[in-house]
Amino acid sequence: MKNKVVEVKNMIKTEQLLDNLLNRSSIVPGIGLIHGESGFGKTTATTWLFNQDSVNGIFVRCYKSDTLTSLLESIARQLAVPVRHNLRGTVDGIVEAIRKEELTLFIDEADHVVSNARIMETLRDIYDATEQPLILVGMEEIARRISQRKQMFNRISQWVEFKAADLEDVSLFARELMEVEVEIDEALLDLIRKRSNGVVRSITSALDKVEKIVLATGVDRIGLEDIDASQLTHDVRRVR
Ligand SMILES: Nc1ncnc2c1ncn2[C@@H]1O[C@H](COP(=O)(O)OP(=O)(O)OP(=O)(O)O)[C@@H](O)[C@H]1O
Ligand SMILES: [Mg+2]
Repeated sequence: MKNKVVEVKNMIKTEQLLDNLLNRSSIVPGIGLIHGESGFGKTTATTWLFNQDSVNGIFVRCYKSDTLTSLLESIARQLAVPVRHNLRGTVDGIVEAIRKEELTLFIDEADHVVSNARIMETLRDIYDATEQPLILVGMEEIARRISQRKQMFNRISQWVEFKAADLEDVSLFARELMEVEVEIDEALLDLIRKRSNGVVRSITSALDKVEKIVLATGVDRIGLEDIDASQLTHDVRRVR
């Protein structure tokens, strides 16, 4: 299997989100929210975007143990600005660097900090002082909790909910990631979609198993009858 990022629908929506934030009119607020279930590819999409030459930003991942001080330190470190003895001084340094370099701030795993009022209010302060895009990435918790934080919520102008991979996405993963030349029957692709519940990591490991079968048997076409479906994924949920 190849190690590359596939431009599935969720990825394209993420690119559009950033594009819309960067090209918004001055009266439109600039906070974006990306949310969706674990394994749907949020971190992959945002880090890929962040690593594009055309994207000027910093990427910070939150931890359960984060405090306002530790998060500001991570942001300051990414920006190579000194950490001051008082938090306000550090925030000023961060604001100055983001403004000067016109950076986008990506905050992954934001679920861990959404309940922390000091952190959320400070992120809002940084946004208000810079008006540079701020993109919060997380799971259900973030979408649910952020709506209760009115001052943050009303600054969000772009939302993307990551969806489970559909048949078209699974087929694209197969085409782009498999190193063998093989035609996979739609029924098998759809079984992978169902068994994986649209979770990308499960899809890639199922495709890896298919690839191994193809390599071992040398077939140029593979379908349901050629595999033991129970071996495809370790998901025990009932197939829909
Ligand atoms: N577009 C993609 N192209 C190729 N591989 C992908 C893609 N999206 C996700 N993956 C694979 O699926 C794995 C899980 O994706 P990722 O970690 O981005 O999900 P997530 O939504 O951030 O999950 P969590 O909420 O648990 O952090 C990745 O490690 C990567 O291997
Ligand atoms: Mg993630």
